[in-house]
Amino acid sequence: MRGTQEAPIAQEPPWPSDGTLDAVLAELAGRPALVPAAEAERLIRRLAEVAEGRAHLVQAGDCVELFDEVSPAATRRKVAQLTGFAETFEAHTGLPTVTVGRLGGQFAKPRSKPVERRVDVVPGSGVTRVSWLPVYRGEAVNDREPSESARTADPARLLRAYDKAAEIHAAIPAGSDVFTSHEALLLGYERALVRRHGPEGVAYSASAHLLWIGDRTRAPRGPHLDFAASVANPVAVKLGPSAHPADVRALVDLLDPHRTPGRLTLITRLGAANVHAALPGLLAAAASHPVIWLCDPMHANTFISGCGRKTRAVDTMLAEVDGFARVLRAHGTHPGGLHLEVTPDQVTECVPTATAAEHGFDAESYRTGCDPRLSRTQAAAFVARAAAGFAGVTEHVRSGVLPG
Ligand code: PEP
Ligand code: CO
Repeated sequence: MRGTQEAPIAQEPPWPSDGTLDAVLAELAGRPALVPAAEAERLIRRLAEVAEGRAHLVQAGDCVELFDEVSPAATRRKVAQLTGFAETFEAHTGLPTVTVGRLGGQFAKPRSKPVERRVDVVPGSGVTRVSWLPVYRGEAVNDREPSESARTADPARLLRAYDKAAEIHAAIPAGSDVFTSHEALLLGYERALVRRHGPEGVAYSASAHLLWIGDRTRAPRGPHLDFAASVANPVAVKLGPSAHPADVRALVDLLDPHRTPGRLTLITRLGAANVHAALPGLLAAAASHPVIWLCDPMHANTFISGCGRKTRAVDTMLAEVDGFARVLRAHGTHPGGLHLEVTPDQVTECVPTATAAEHGFDAESYRTGCDPRLSRTQAAAFVARAAAGFAGVTEHVRSGVLPG
């Protein structure tokens, strides 16, 4: 039941009302699972070790995956980058590290505004014309090109998203031990890819190993959290600066009623300036559940550079990771790991320091479909710094100075 009479679903694209969406969703419901339920279960068992302080988790990849960039070689490079992060974490902390990609289905984006302003110069006249275009919502919805037709939500793109996700899953080298994840934003797509298993008919998402609910769609009693509660996969929720401890209490009870280690990850993205003040209350709110605490130092530290592009400063992001580690240490809680936007390519999208943003970016090396990612070398250095910081906290927590 999709409850069309209820409140509008947050971030739902303006799909055409001509029946094509329902036809596409019916087709998706008949497609093979991308991820077997047993693999989602295996990830829960691996994540249980993270929840219990015996392992770390690194979740990383593109802000949005682009259809045109999908290839077996590109997938192998992304997997190799993730495996490298695990090796770095293990070398610094001595603990095993679970790797989860923002990979194989990260095709939909929540946006802060439904339209964006476009300024055109009328050829030959020098006169400018301002118009408004629907925003790009990720490859599963519309196209990045700034034209009215490209930006029209097209349900057929959901089938392409499934096909691309299938290609990516097939290209992950056997034995590489990298799991997949994406934001569960498009509920029609996600519901169509739920498969039931066993005599009890337990529902699993077959679209990825792990799904997360974004900061903009985590409304208490909202349909996105309800969806996450309905599947048995490991799930995560992003917590931004507006997250209230009462929201967190409600969502941990909803998503982790049986207090299952590995079931629920809370991804904080509070901002370097807010993490010290905001994180203690969130930790306390979830204290009776064995959740994994993951630090996303990217999404609350975004700013517009001098040349008008979105960027992020590595030093500010490291400050959020340091703050996260300090607060967890004071609380006697294991820092689960990192959630990052990265690429194995040598792009220039993030800058070393906030002042470096004045230099501007060239189109060749600023290539993200949405948010700025750490480049190959930035990411490697970042993960090493963070792992070194977490190693100290883990030592401290394990020594049992503070109650766990
Ligand atoms: C994202 O992870 O790309 C994203 C939109 O995050 P958040 O929900 O934290 O804003
Ligand atoms: Co992003």
